Amino acid sequence: MNRKPVIAIDGYSSTGKSSISKDIATRLGLIHLDTGALYRGITLYALTHCFANGAIDRNCLISSFDKIRLEFREAGHVLVLYLNGKDVSREIRTQEVSDHVSFVAKQPEVRDFLLKTQRDIAAEGGVIMDGRDIGTVVLPDADYKFFLTASIEERTRRRFLEMQASGMEADIHSVRENLIKRDRIDSEREVSPLKQAEDAILIDNSDISKEQTTEKILSYIR
Ligand code: DC
Repeated sequence: MNRKPVIAIDGYSSTGKSSISKDIATRLGLIHLDTGALYRGITLYALTHCFANGAIDRNCLISSFDKIRLEFREAGHVLVLYLNGKDVSREIRTQEVSDHVSFVAKQPEVRDFLLKTQRDIAAEGGVIMDGRDIGTVVLPDADYKFFLTASIEERTRRRFLEMQASGMEADIHSVRENLIKRDRIDSEREVSPLKQAEDAILIDNSDISKEQTTEKILSYIR
């Protein structure tokens, strides 16, 4: 293939999609786009500007799109997210953002708003994109599609350790509850639900490491 490939990686929260995609991007010289970061960026905006009585005000959010500028800037093969000119790559990972992101991601207007951004980035090829609806909706013609899953126990452990390692406050029970709740909302929403594309390769990585998952994916691509 002369043109560099377009690869879609979907799956459940904390299956290692982003770091595995990042490794594959480095190995194959592709750009990696973590689409969850876009939904998290919008959630961060909503929590700051459209939050009232303990909830995100949907109308406020969908009438604010013209004030939300999300941009990825290249840092090596990784794209770092900027919200209105500010690097928010750390702020979008907090538990507060995780607690509200599925509500934001199930709004059809939000999904529409982000669709073009994602497709534009993939238009030139040479991209690996991870998310929930990449193989089904965003890039249905991707050259390769993978769908990652793992047990809830293993995913909770990974997410908890990841939060601890980056110095964030983490409580293992809330981490587990958040993962279960997000997976449920993400899978049950009407627009672009989390689901395996018919032509995606399923990988359960409960008992294999990130490195082994990466190797497995690369073996299909080679
Ligand atoms: O990958 P992540 O955990 O950072 O994603 C955060 C949330 O964004 C996730 O709960 C669902 C949503 N999301 C989505 O709906 N579609 C995508 N393509 C990526 C993420």
